[in-house]
Amino acid sequence: MRGASGSSVNLTTEADTPRGLPAPGIVSLRPAAPADLGTLLLWDRDPEVRDSLLDSDWHWEAELPRHPAWREWYIAEVAGRPIGFIQIIDPEFEETQYWGCVEAGHRAIDIWIGARDYLNRGYGTQMMELAIERAFEDPSVHTILIDPLESNSAAHRFYERLGFEYVIQRTFGEDRCSVFRLNRPDDTRGHS
Ligand SMILES: CC(C)(COP(=O)(O)OP(=O)(O)OC[C@H]1O[C@@H](n2cnc3c(N)ncnc32)[C@H](O)[C@@H]1OP(=O)(O)O)[C@@H](O)C(=O)NCCC(=O)NCCS
Repeated sequence: MRGASGSSVNLTTEADTPRGLPAPGIVSLRPAAPADLGTLLLWDRDPEVRDSLLDSDWHWEAELPRHPAWREWYIAEVAGRPIGFIQIIDPEFEETQYWGCVEAGHRAIDIWIGARDYLNRGYGTQMMELAIERAFEDPSVHTILIDPLESNSAAHRFYERLGFEYVIQRTFGEDRCSVFRLNRPDDTRGHS
């Protein structure tokens, strides 16, 4: 995984950077920890984050100390400031079997930016690139799945720019979602 080193950015101008300019900071991912509880609860209260996600209760307090083998939780940081969250799961083994029966070799990713002033500046793209790199580090992983709400057209554009392709509409609980997938680059095995 890439780290935060190598940034030669003047961070004093960061907050003033208008939409359309390159993101001035470099994102790094670190494992989420119990000390992140307050930040995650704060981000949960942001309507833009809450309304774009399917599951509104992540049971942070109980779950942050847990590290099940099928799940990785990361905090994205820019220059030491937490800006967002990423979950990578193995849907084959995820406890609730949210994705249903999924064959081996998949990962599913959830992502959001909680720090509003970091939206629309390319940070989400950096975060997702790191998550994709992490997911494909396991050579047995051939496909990454995501399930934005059908109504979240900005997220659809975001994922398509990253190379994801639309697969199918699917209802999870009461939420109508659009499933997208990204195959491992140069994987010619033809997974569905
Ligand atoms: C989805 C999400 C992670 C994307 O993160 P982001 O950092 O805002 O994404 P980006 O900055 O890479 O792209 C967003 C927009 O900014 C634009 N942008 C980003 N950097 C830019 C740059 N340097 N120059 C010009 N435009 C830029 C992109 O083109 C894109 O525009 P569009 O919406 O018109 O297509 C973020 O919007 C988010 O957290 N949303 C709420 C939660 C959510 O929807 N999560 C996904 C659920 S599946």
